[in-house]
Amino acid sequence: NKVTFDYSKASQFISGHEVELMKKLTLDAKEVLVSKTGAGNDFLGWIDLPVDYDKEEFSRIKKAAAKIQSDSEVLLVIGIGGSYLGARAAIEFLRHSFYNSVDKSVRKTPEIYFVGNSLSSTYIKHLIEVIGDRDFSINMISKSGTTTEPAIAFRVFKEMMENKYGKKEAAGRIYATTDKARGSLKNLATEEGYESFVVPDDVGGRFSVLTAVGLLPIAVSGADIDRLMEGAASGRKRAMEASFEDNDALKYAALRNILLRKGKTIEVLANYEPGVHYVSEWWKQLYGESEGKDQKGIFPASVDLTADLHSMGQFIQDGARTLFETVIDIETSREEIILGTEAVDLDGLNYLAGKTVDFVNKSAMNGTILAHTDGNVPNLIIHVPEVNEFNLGELLYFFEFACGVSGYLLGVNPFDQPGVESYKKNMFALLGKPGYEAQREELLKRL
Ligand code: PA5
Repeated sequence: NKVTFDYSKASQFISGHEVELMKKLTLDAKEVLVSKTGAGNDFLGWIDLPVDYDKEEFSRIKKAAAKIQSDSEVLLVIGIGGSYLGARAAIEFLRHSFYNSVDKSVRKTPEIYFVGNSLSSTYIKHLIEVIGDRDFSINMISKSGTTTEPAIAFRVFKEMMENKYGKKEAAGRIYATTDKARGSLKNLATEEGYESFVVPDDVGGRFSVLTAVGLLPIAVSGADIDRLMEGAASGRKRAMEASFEDNDALKYAALRNILLRKGKTIEVLANYEPGVHYVSEWWKQLYGESEGKDQKGIFPASVDLTADLHSMGQFIQDGARTLFETVIDIETSREEIILGTEAVDLDGLNYLAGKTVDFVNKSAMNGTILAHTDGNVPNLIIHVPEVNEFNLGELLYFFEFACGVSGYLLGVNPFDQPGVESYKKNMFALLGKPGYEAQREELLKRL
């Protein structure tokens, strides 16, 4: 019951000798990664996380989650990028499709809202209305402790919380996930006495889902973080130890680089389950930030199907042939709905009576894979046997490991993100931040 990678539907686009050639390069890239001799090698803490994590902190995470579950109706998770997407991906994947709105007796855990991932005052104001006068807690997540978007949201919600509970009780409801020693958030947490969790120095934001960054919100949602880590450990074992032929992460890294070298510069991650939407968002950050540099990279895009078959489907089938598609196949649906028979077959669906909705979904998926393949879009498939913590852990690790290897195959440093600084400098200059006066003048002339 493992997550597996399958490129049988892309075989017409790739020949055996190409795989053989790329196998050698991929094994070399893997060696660079695991021997920690490549660029960015001070950010490889994620490789061993599933088997070598801080057990004391892990149990504090569970305790904090239990406290939040017992004293809060709402948890606000404040963070952006790697300090946001992993937790959201896991919660949306594992928990109820309508997690926040389903009756508490079904959910049993606090509502969870993500904020600090935009600068929208409308979103913040509306979230304040959603909280109302209910009890809430905050998990403020920022490795650097200085990122503008979460810092602004934190200022607003910290004030709201201190007004409601007073400074002392508020401090007991704020959990800070940040660097162990540096940054404004760490200083604030020490000063105010917030319980703190650590983003390890050697784990970059987009690789941090299996640290407290992801684990605390995921645990609050009621998901089993032990099983998540076990799944990741199983993914790690295969990625580290299996031969190329049995190593799905290596094969995925190899195949996408073969396709890139044939001019397939866009990878579209496709899912057929709405719960996978944020896994795609997480994946886009992981691959986009890791590979898109030095004027190179595969552009990571995503579609939610079948919805996007009625929009982007046209482009995928028939537009510029620069794409390949990677389909996440959730093999077993969490729920089963069997279609009934109608006395008068007005909607013409009686031929499906007795069949499940998931049978229709899988037929759409299989038909689409063949149609897109016929349209010259190579289709790779990742099979996920079931929606559970173990399989998610495997999937997350599979993508992380493949990303590290793929980045080295591409010849970039997969663990830095120099490009994300440019907008920040301009924004600070336009905001009038001290130290940016000269840039401000220049930019104002250009606006
Ligand atoms: O992957 C990354 O490094 C980024 O996406 C960061 O996670 C993001 O910018 C947030 O940074 P921080 O956690 O320092 O607030």
